[in-house]
Amino acid sequence: MAENTNNQENAVEGKKTKTIYTDEGVVVVDEEGNVVSEEGSGIESGPKPVGKIITVSELTISVLLSDVKVKYHDLLYTQHKGREIYFEVAEIEGNVVRAIPFQNVVGLKKGLDVFRANKGLEIQYNDEILGKVFNSYGQLLDENTIEKDETRDVYDRHLSLEEISLNGGILWTGIKVLDFFAPMQKGFKMGLLGGAGVGKTVLIKELIHNVYAGLKSNSVFVGIGERSREGKELYEEMKEADLLDKMSIVFGQMGENSTARSKAIFSGLTLAEYLRDEKSQDVLLFIDNIYRYVQAMSEINSELARIPIENGYPANIASAVSDVEERINSTEKGSITSFQAIYIPADDMTDQAVQTVTTHLDGQIVLDRKVAEKGLYPAVDVFNTTSKLIDIEKIGERHYTLVEETLKYYSRYQELEEIIAVLGIEELSIQDTNIFYRTRKLRNYFTQPMFVAENYTGIPGEFVDIDDILDDVEGILTGKYDEVDEGQFLFIGTINGRKSKVSAE
Ligand SMILES: Nc1ncnc2c1ncn2[C@@H]1O[C@H](COP(=O)(O)OP(=O)(O)OP(=O)(O)O)[C@@H](O)[C@H]1O
Ligand SMILES: [Mg+2]
Repeated sequence: MAENTNNQENAVEGKKTKTIYTDEGVVVVDEEGNVVSEEGSGIESGPKPVGKIITVSELTISVLLSDVKVKYHDLLYTQHKGREIYFEVAEIEGNVVRAIPFQNVVGLKKGLDVFRANKGLEIQYNDEILGKVFNSYGQLLDENTIEKDETRDVYDRHLSLEEISLNGGILWTGIKVLDFFAPMQKGFKMGLLGGAGVGKTVLIKELIHNVYAGLKSNSVFVGIGERSREGKELYEEMKEADLLDKMSIVFGQMGENSTARSKAIFSGLTLAEYLRDEKSQDVLLFIDNIYRYVQAMSEINSELARIPIENGYPANIASAVSDVEERINSTEKGSITSFQAIYIPADDMTDQAVQTVTTHLDGQIVLDRKVAEKGLYPAVDVFNTTSKLIDIEKIGERHYTLVEETLKYYSRYQELEEIIAVLGIEELSIQDTNIFYRTRKLRNYFTQPMFVAENYTGIPGEFVDIDDILDDVEGILTGKYDEVDEGQFLFIGTINGRKSKVSAE
């Protein structure tokens, strides 16, 4: 059979043996193309084509199926110039399949035979994933190799409700404004939301520095649709800080096609699940930026000509986001705690992609351009920053009351700014004057020098303990620091320069 010969010739290139999966069984051939072993009955037939290509574009390949059924996410391939070119089933309509190619499709044309791979998209895994960098399809990007080659299907793992465990301790990040307004718990999904250039990446890196370095747990970083340069920097920084050996990195960056950008997250999830399920670990998952995944899915869907809904996102956006978010969960054995940067297009929080992602989160840190413009970093919008832990039962009465009180001060401050603009500050009551000046101190106090931003600020980073934060906030609110100039509160750790007990350990 023609296809059979073709496949065997190709199969032996550069490899000692190759397994060929046929409808009838499995055949292993050696370098000369001789059959080495076989299972099933179909020795004499290689893989049968499942159909033929009918149209090719950069982002989609349409295949007319012969009498075969395929499923969503099945991996198909064709052969061209001795190479196998893979594409994944994205849409099935009767006997026509639309698939999205993983590689360059130049040279492919109508009429080429299409085969079905025996498995879907997979990623290699074992202990050796740590310290390694993968591309979106789970292939290693650096010079490293993985010796023991075990693989997992990247779409495989959905937990049943019984498996999910929701208990975990509070995870202090050492970043004042986060720990105070949006405390984090093991197993939480925390969003870091912000428009372009307001500090999402810096914050995620600080969290890597403080949480990952502090916990000494393993972690996975997934870079999606962001600058390749930033990826390279992260790799170098992790290496320098001796943290690379506990982190796996997956990149599907800007400049790669939408398929690659849409797959990176699945490879990353699979690695995190491996560490959680088979190694029973508490894993940290850092994603920069989950919005780019939604954007890639939108591009793929518009290429597939699915009817877009009004605001440019496809109708299946909610399920595309669930496919990812519902896999980020914790079990009795281990947990996945995630920090997800979310880009806000045109600074519009009501954007549908942003809203869809935030419904899955346990907390959110919203970064605000107006705060960033004042040079107050991290540029947090305290009114929209919160977490499920802001509950008297969970963080205790003192912390809870201080948050409430602080927010009251902030919102009165906004009103007072308007009043002052008209009447001048002299007209304020003593109580309002106090609120006005103390809020400005609080606002400055919630800035913080960051370890990873030392080259922007020139000030070494500080990790601050929650007890110190509560003491300091209480002190400002009760007037203990009324005589201290507000400038003194900018980019400090604690007010009295107390050093963290946690980070010193
Ligand atoms: N914590 C910080 N301390 C000092 N400067 C900061 C801080 N965070 C952000 N910046 C400043 O803001 C710039 C942009 O930050 P960053 O790259 O983190 O933004 P982003 O939200 O990730 O942007 P993009 O949407 O382009 O990915 C930094 O280069 C730095 O100058
Ligand atoms: Mg960024």
